[in-house]
Amino acid sequence: MIKNLLALTLHLAITATCFAQLTATRLLTENESDPISVDTKAPRFSWQITAGNAKNVLQTAYKIRVYAADGNRLVWDGNKVAGSQSIYVPYNGPALTSGTAYVWQVMVWDNQGHVSPWSKKAMWRMGLTSPSDWKASWIGPGYAGDTVNKPSPMLRKNITLNKNIKSAFAYITSHGLYEARINGQKVGDAYLTPGWTSYHKRLQYQVYDVTTLLKKGQNAVGAQLGSGWYRSTLVSTPNHYGKDVGLLFQLEVTYTDGTHETIISDGSWKSAKGELRYAEIYNGATIDARMAQKDWAKSGFDDANWTPVKVQNYGKDNLIATYNEPVKKHESFKALKLITPPKGEKVIDFGQNLVGWVQLKINGNAGDSIKISHTEVLDKAGNFYNENLRGAKAQNTYILKGGGEEYFEPQFTWQGFRYIKVEGIKGDIDRDNFTAVAVYSDMEPTGTFSTSNPMLNQLQHNIKWGQKGNFLDVPTDCPQRDERLGWTGDAQVFSRTASFNMNVHNFFTKWLKDVAADQNSNGSVPHIVPDVFKDHDLTENGGATGWSDVATVVPWNMYLAYGDKDLLQNQYPSMKAWVDYMYDHSKNNLWNTGWHFGDWLFYTVDNDLDGTSAITSKYLIAQCFYAYSTQLLINAANVLGNKADADKYAKLLQQVKAAYLNEYVTANGLVSSDTQTAYTLALAFDMLPEGIRAQAAARLAGNITRYGNHLTTGFLGTPYLCYALSRFGYADVAYKLLLQDTYPSWLYPIKMGATTIWERWDGIKPDGSFETPTMNSYNHYAYGAIGDWMYRVISGVDTETDGPGYKKIIIKPIVGGNLTYANAAYETPYGKLTSNWKIQGNTFYLDVEVPANTTATIYVPDFNQTAGYKKQQVGSGSYHFTSKSYINPVKHAKP
Ligand code: BGC
Repeated sequence: MIKNLLALTLHLAITATCFAQLTATRLLTENESDPISVDTKAPRFSWQITAGNAKNVLQTAYKIRVYAADGNRLVWDGNKVAGSQSIYVPYNGPALTSGTAYVWQVMVWDNQGHVSPWSKKAMWRMGLTSPSDWKASWIGPGYAGDTVNKPSPMLRKNITLNKNIKSAFAYITSHGLYEARINGQKVGDAYLTPGWTSYHKRLQYQVYDVTTLLKKGQNAVGAQLGSGWYRSTLVSTPNHYGKDVGLLFQLEVTYTDGTHETIISDGSWKSAKGELRYAEIYNGATIDARMAQKDWAKSGFDDANWTPVKVQNYGKDNLIATYNEPVKKHESFKALKLITPPKGEKVIDFGQNLVGWVQLKINGNAGDSIKISHTEVLDKAGNFYNENLRGAKAQNTYILKGGGEEYFEPQFTWQGFRYIKVEGIKGDIDRDNFTAVAVYSDMEPTGTFSTSNPMLNQLQHNIKWGQKGNFLDVPTDCPQRDERLGWTGDAQVFSRTASFNMNVHNFFTKWLKDVAADQNSNGSVPHIVPDVFKDHDLTENGGATGWSDVATVVPWNMYLAYGDKDLLQNQYPSMKAWVDYMYDHSKNNLWNTGWHFGDWLFYTVDNDLDGTSAITSKYLIAQCFYAYSTQLLINAANVLGNKADADKYAKLLQQVKAAYLNEYVTANGLVSSDTQTAYTLALAFDMLPEGIRAQAAARLAGNITRYGNHLTTGFLGTPYLCYALSRFGYADVAYKLLLQDTYPSWLYPIKMGATTIWERWDGIKPDGSFETPTMNSYNHYAYGAIGDWMYRVISGVDTETDGPGYKKIIIKPIVGGNLTYANAAYETPYGKLTSNWKIQGNTFYLDVEVPANTTATIYVPDFNQTAGYKKQQVGSGSYHFTSKSYINPVKHAKP
């Protein structure tokens, strides 16, 4: 008996150890942790698996349970499902109820006979899933507005809640931007809500848990409205979406006795103006503290003088739950230096070019006016220079009320800057009174990359800051001048790099829906999305090669990075419409019509070598992208099991490539534009028959050598340039380009002090003068697209196309550039992946970490092997490899 008991205890102990090892963690619903505004009918669940030190762990089955959040009522008891799927598993139970919370958990089985315990519970809350769930009315200010300065209206209402509150959720959106308040406190920590979408078709609302902001008895609710993207001047005209700002506000309160009350925006609210006298995206804000209506959002406030609001007659069919991470405050920067330039201005340097705003603490007299102007650079003489902001004033004005310390920060605007100029402060400036705060979409940081070369590390830093500054609810070209628009070409070239640095899955999922929503009926994609060019008389708004290809490139890049098939499915009609547009506009499969930006901002020809030109024919580029987009459409059709389309477009692709060869390539394989971009695209998109690829690669390498190891590419060639080289045996040339620090190159701006990626290779010329102010941003992420090559080639971290989202990992570093180490860590949907290599003495060391439920093919550089690598297949776990023959002894023949 005792023996049996002992055996049982031992058995339980062993089982417990196994249980403790295998765990499902990091439960996400629609890629978010515990989201509270989900409006998809079948939300998708993802989890990660941890298994202690165990190696080669693969999930073999899972089981999901969903409960009602209040109590233990089981809503869906999913079957045990065999397989290794652990991301995007759709809910498959009875219909979910609008505005209701659910919890779920999962247990998993692995290939080593272990079963996990039930995971910790995760929750999600359904948003308002149907327009009829909205009881609130659209409301706007009831007083006659000042249509010039458009002071920011405040809307408010006192409410009484007679019982103890169990929970309260606010559902809010607006025309224009809003900041909501309850009992004086800001609701949530997001800014620039409701974000930017193609408003008339898709308007996001946000949901907030406001339980702790409310109390039994008297309360006040309110919101302040700003013009935002809705009616600020964008491009050069205001009111793109409408003239009047408005608010939609619905508060759902549940009392402890189980009863329910809904508070809505309606005709009983009141409106007034306050201290925010002006706020435009490009120009900045003016706050006059003397006009503040103190405590206007508190319940004791007397609003007898306020005007009743106007009820607005807008529909609610375009309302959707927020899918992407809202914009939030992130890093803050103390003033690094106080500068008095030759012109005598008072300038502060924050040390980093960033996007956000400056917070100011100040004492002064009533009526004192402080002006803060923003810029990214000082001129050659050290003076404040903001000509390149063009029509954007980027200036905040604060008028003091006096009588003590006052605190200011702007609302409903942002600036891109490293330096500020301060006017209106008498006497010395106390730099401790200024703090710059960076503001961007709240995406999870996912990647780190560092090497033994400090310049390269600074490049990675600059790429990340370019991303932070321009991922402000939509991917923008630049954050400072009078643009700040969702330029499609820029987003296309940078999207894969972006996916390494931060989790951009939901950010791009949301924006791609706007790409599809704003796509023209003939299939061309507008130059910018959301499309505010449509009201302008542009010759052709959309259809530019490399820009419209956003419709195919970004969905495919997101599919590779996150393995999300639904995203591909949703975008498929848009992808197809774009390829069909090119087909419709081609003759004999040659697409050589329409207006194109071409290889935007390529190295200009004034000091070009040998009379050769770096200009690449726009139609040649168009033909390459036609082929590339068609290829991506075929890939998508294959993933989605659409064989008919896959076959149809495969035939088209052959014809497109044949037309390209016929028109642009000689029998001996010379491409008609003898440029880096022409050869790069030819090689990167497989435009050439295999037999002449090596020769084309040699010509590309030769071209680079002729330019003294400098690139000459613009927006469209640059992202693929180093790939074309490393893929065809010229990694050494790619490294030379990457580490080049004279103009044009990636490191030249760093030598000139850049802390972000510049729009142009020579934003600041070697003599310290500037490029033309009409087009010279110092925060444009496009050329940062090299970041992708740094992760995928230097560190060698990649995903197989047939195991996207890093289900099947590749680690294949290419050593070079005299680097003695390169470390990359990347948070895949399955968990952390690392690739750290170093060279010590004569030995190459590689340490990798492969997350559970994935496999990896590791290529350890070894030139004793014919392929130059020793290839090994591993499962999850940590591994250590060494190689003594990592240097490629084969010298490339000089072309
Ligand atoms: C933007 C670019 C954009 C381009 C189109 C510029 O004004 O800043 O980045 O892609 O126009 O050519």
